[in-house]
Amino acid sequence: MRSQIKKPFIAANWKMNGKPSKALTLAIELTTGLSIEAIELVICAPFTHLDRLAPIKQTGVCIGAQNCHFAENGAYTGEVSASMLADLGCEYIIIGHSERRSLDSPESILPRIRQVLNAGMSVIYCCGEPLAQKESGQEWPYVSNQLQVDLESLSIDDLKKLVIAYEPIWAIGTGLTASPNQTQNMHLRIRNWAENKWNTQHAQQLRIIYGGSVKASNAADLSQMDDIDGFLVGGASLIPNEFRAIIQCYS
Ligand code: PGA
Repeated sequence: MRSQIKKPFIAANWKMNGKPSKALTLAIELTTGLSIEAIELVICAPFTHLDRLAPIKQTGVCIGAQNCHFAENGAYTGEVSASMLADLGCEYIIIGHSERRSLDSPESILPRIRQVLNAGMSVIYCCGEPLAQKESGQEWPYVSNQLQVDLESLSIDDLKKLVIAYEPIWAIGTGLTASPNQTQNMHLRIRNWAENKWNTQHAQQLRIIYGGSVKASNAADLSQMDDIDGFLVGGASLIPNEFRAIIQCYS
């Protein structure tokens, strides 16, 4: 049974889309008139849009970014630090998205997570297997290795500032989704892994969300599963009717 005190969590990942001048209008269209008190809702926008999105926070929607640098500050031309994003009002940063893992070094994931936590924000940490691992039945060895390497030195207090997004790479932007049962199975394994690693009941409160071609047509079934605590939504978070229907599965 889903815990009563664990708020479902839905994050929009706009990726590199839209214009700063249109960002607030889209955010309002995605959320206005919906009852969102019972869920935590975050819009993760490109860096350039974040300042323009600040007014949406008055409605209870949080804003977040899609990555940050692994250093606190310094001579890193073109980069953005976690503390800069906190200063803009961000409360969440996505770290380890598969579209970033192909650009950033694997060893930089943990330092990035540290920067987010040090800046007082929370992390939406992404993990998930490529198609080859799915086809050879090696999903869990692959994902558990990611968890072990990336989250190795986090404490129980750090865990309280973490949302884990399971995003199988083969499902991202492809229209393919894992079945509700397959996804539930993976989420439960992730939760059990967290419970064993930190030896804490808090693992039951950890939000484990699913991402990968979530849309209005599949969200209702996925949201029924005990260990699917919400969604990380890419393409459908740019389409108001789709995103609103996804939110309504939990609200
Ligand atoms: P998608 O993207 O919903 O477009 O598959 C999800 C994500 O990349 O977070």
